[in-house]
Amino acid sequence: MDFRKIPHPVNFRFAGALAGKGSTRAFKEAGVSLRIRDLGEDVFHLGMTGRSWKDENLLPLSWKAAGPSRLSWTWLDKGGFSLGDAQGARLRGEPGACFGVCGKSWLLRFVQEEAMRFYGFGEKNLPFERSKVDTTFWNTDLWADYTPQQCEAGETDPMYVSIPFMLIRKPGAVVGVLVANPFPSFMGTGKTIAISPGETREDESLYVGATDGLPSVFFLCGNTPAEVVEKLQRLSGTTPLPPLWGLGHHQCRWGYQTFEDLDGLDRSFRKHKIPCDGLWLDIDYMDRFKVFTFDKKKFSKPAAQLAELRRRGRRVVPIIDPGVKVERGYGVYDDGLKRKVFARNPEGAVFKSFVWPGKTAFPDFSLARVREWWAKRVEGFARLGVSGAWLDMNEPALSIVVQEDMLFREGSKPHAAYHNQYALGMAMASREGFLRARPNERPFLISRAGFIGSNRFAGFWTGDNCSNWIHLKKSIGLTLNLAISGAPFNGPDVPGFANDASPELARAWYKAGFLFPFLRNHSGTGTRKQEPWAFDARTLAVVRHYIRLRYKLLPYLYNLFIGQAEQGKAVLRPLFYEFPDSQDFDRVDDQFMVGPAILQAPLVEEGKKGRKVLLPQGHWFDAGSGKWLAGGRSVRVGSSAKATPLYFRDGSLVVTQAGEPTDNRNNLKELELHVFLRQGSAEVDYCFDDGESFDYQKGARTRLRFKFEQKGGRLSGSVETLAAGFGPCRVRVVLYQRPKTFSFSRGGKTQDLELAPHSWTASGGPLKAWISAPIRCGV
Ligand code: GLC
Repeated sequence: MDFRKIPHPVNFRFAGALAGKGSTRAFKEAGVSLRIRDLGEDVFHLGMTGRSWKDENLLPLSWKAAGPSRLSWTWLDKGGFSLGDAQGARLRGEPGACFGVCGKSWLLRFVQEEAMRFYGFGEKNLPFERSKVDTTFWNTDLWADYTPQQCEAGETDPMYVSIPFMLIRKPGAVVGVLVANPFPSFMGTGKTIAISPGETREDESLYVGATDGLPSVFFLCGNTPAEVVEKLQRLSGTTPLPPLWGLGHHQCRWGYQTFEDLDGLDRSFRKHKIPCDGLWLDIDYMDRFKVFTFDKKKFSKPAAQLAELRRRGRRVVPIIDPGVKVERGYGVYDDGLKRKVFARNPEGAVFKSFVWPGKTAFPDFSLARVREWWAKRVEGFARLGVSGAWLDMNEPALSIVVQEDMLFREGSKPHAAYHNQYALGMAMASREGFLRARPNERPFLISRAGFIGSNRFAGFWTGDNCSNWIHLKKSIGLTLNLAISGAPFNGPDVPGFANDASPELARAWYKAGFLFPFLRNHSGTGTRKQEPWAFDARTLAVVRHYIRLRYKLLPYLYNLFIGQAEQGKAVLRPLFYEFPDSQDFDRVDDQFMVGPAILQAPLVEEGKKGRKVLLPQGHWFDAGSGKWLAGGRSVRVGSSAKATPLYFRDGSLVVTQAGEPTDNRNNLKELELHVFLRQGSAEVDYCFDDGESFDYQKGARTRLRFKFEQKGGRLSGSVETLAAGFGPCRVRVVLYQRPKTFSFSRGGKTQDLELAPHSWTASGGPLKAWISAPIRCGV
C-alpha cells in the first residue's frame, strides 16, 4: 500500500441524482443511503450507509448544542447540497459529482471558490496554507518510511498524527469539515497534476473521503476560525488542564540513562540558574529495552532515586514504547501471552515485529480489556515515582515488517481499521494508569502519534525533526495547524533532534519556541550535546534568558491552557485566528500569537540580518526596544544575538510571575500585572490554583477579573473576585505609559496609587515602565 497517494475522483461513481425527501436521500445506483442531521448551532452531520461499511471508532463524538442552527442544509436535485442561508452558501457540494464511491472508498466533493483558504489537517509537513495539496492520513514513523534526505528537507507527508480536519476560510464564513473515520482518509484541495515534464493539468477538485469505514462527516460552521476551532474541540474534546510543571522547561536526550545522568542535569540547571521541571529518560534506562523495567545497573534503587529527584523539584518522565520484548520469563510478555493481549497475525499467532528490544509483540489497544491490562502496568510504574510518560513508536512503528500482517480484535479486524487509533488507545490506557496510581494528580503524557480526540489524553511532540533551519521554520506552521485541528498542546524537539545544532540555530530556536505550548530540549544519539550550557557563553546566556522569560510568563500560559480546557481556545494562534477580518495574514507562517496578547515574529532564516514583521491593526508594545509601534503596516527589524521580535498588543493585561525566575519554584500568588493600554479599556480573568491536583474542580481555585480604563491620561483599574477558593495573591501593576493619575479599586474601595520607576524588557535591556506598590487581590 502506498500511503503517499490518495484515491482520485476520476475512478469514482458519482450520484447524478438523489431520490427521497426529508433528511435522507438515496444514491440508488450505488446502493447507498445518505442522511443529514442538523445537530444545532450550525453543526451538521452527514452519514452514509450501505456497502458493508462499519464504524470502528474507539471514541464516540458527541455534540451538545446550546441553541438551534441559523444555517440549513439543502439537498439539490442533481446530487449536490448547499449549506447556508438567505445570504448565500457557506459550502456547496459539487453538482452532479458530490457523493462518490469506488469499492469501499467514498468521497465528498465540494465547489472550490477562489477566495477559499485551507488550514488544519492535523500534523502535516505541507505549506502552512493548504491550497493545491493532496494528502492522506496514515500515522507514519518518518525515519523508517522516508529517506534521510526527505527527513532533513521536511518533505515527509504523512507524519505521525492523523486528524482529518479541514478548516475552510473565506471572507465572512468559516466551515470545518471533520472526517470522523479511522481508516486511511484523504483530502485534496486541487493539486496540480503533472502529466509529463513541463505538462500539467489544473484540477480544482476539493474533496474529502476515506478508503473504508462508515462514512461520517461533521460540518462545523461559524463566522471566525476561533469559533469553528472551539466547536471542533467541543465535539472531539478539549485538552485537560496539565500540571503546571508540564508547562515548564524539559530536558531530554537519547543518551541519558542513569541516575547519575539525571543527578548531573539537576546540578547543572541549579548551577546555571536555569529553571527546569522535566528530566526525561530515553530507552536506555530500561533493562534491555524491556518496557516497564529499570536497568538495575543504571538505577540501583529506582523508587528512592526518583523520590530524591522529586524532592529536588525535578519530575522524571521516562519513555514508554508499546512494543513488548518477546522473551519467556519476562513478566510483561508472559502475562500478556497468557491473557491474549497481543495483536495477531493472519495465522492466528502473536504478531511480531522488530523494535529496540529485538523481536517484539504489540498490545492490541483496540480492545477495552487490553487497555485495562496496560493501565494496570502503567499504574504500577507510576507508583514507582515517575511523574509522567513519553509515549513513543505508537504509529505503531513496525520497522521492516508489513503492517497488513498486524490484525486487531482477536485477529478479526484489518490493520487499517485501527492503525490510526493505535496511539489513541495507548494514550487512553496510559492516562487511566496514572489516574489510578495518583487519583488526585493531573497526568502528564506526551505522545508521538495520535488521532481525533487523542488530545484528551496526551499532548504531542512533533517527532524526529532535524537540527536545521528548515525544521525551525516548519515548526511554526506545524504547531499552528495542530492547534487549528484541536491539538494545541504540542511542540517540536528544540533545537532539533537529528544532526548537530549550531550555536546560532540553538539561540534562534529557543527565541522562536520559548513560548510554544510544550518546550523540550531533545537530541538524538550520536549528535552533539545541546543542553543550554553545551554551546558557548553567549548561547547559554540567551537560552537561559528565554527559559526564564517563559517561567515569568507561566501564569499567562497557564491561563491559556485553562481557556483551552474550558472553552477549547487555542494556545498558540495563527494571526488570522486573532484578526479574522483581514486577508493579509492568510499565508503568514513565520509569525504567531501566543494567546490574544503576545505577537512573535522570530528570525528563522540562517544568517539573515533582519526581517519584515507584519503588525496587525492597533498599537503594539515592542518588548525589545520598549517603544510603542503603530500597527496596520509592516516594519523592518534588525537581528541581534539576544533580542527577538516580541510585541504586546494594546488593550491587553498580562499576568506574570514577579521578577525574573531563576528556578522552577513557581509562585502563582506573587504577581505582576502588565498593563498594555494606551486608550480605552481592557479586561482579563486570571485563575490560579495548586497547579497539580484536581482540587480546583471542587472549588480550590481563585478567579480574579481585572479591568482597566485609560481616559485622557487618567488610569483606573479594578479587581473583582469571582472565586476565592485558593486564597489571595499580591499583584504589582506595571504600566508602559505613565498616566497623570492612577487609581485602583477593590472591594468597593478606591485607592490612589504611587508609581515607582521599573525596568523590564523582554531582552533584558532598560525600559521606562512604572510599577505600583503590591495590591492584595482575591480577598
Ligand atoms: C524515536 C523517538 C525519539 C527517541 C528515539 C529513541 O526516534 O522519536 O525521540 O529519542 O526513538 O527512543
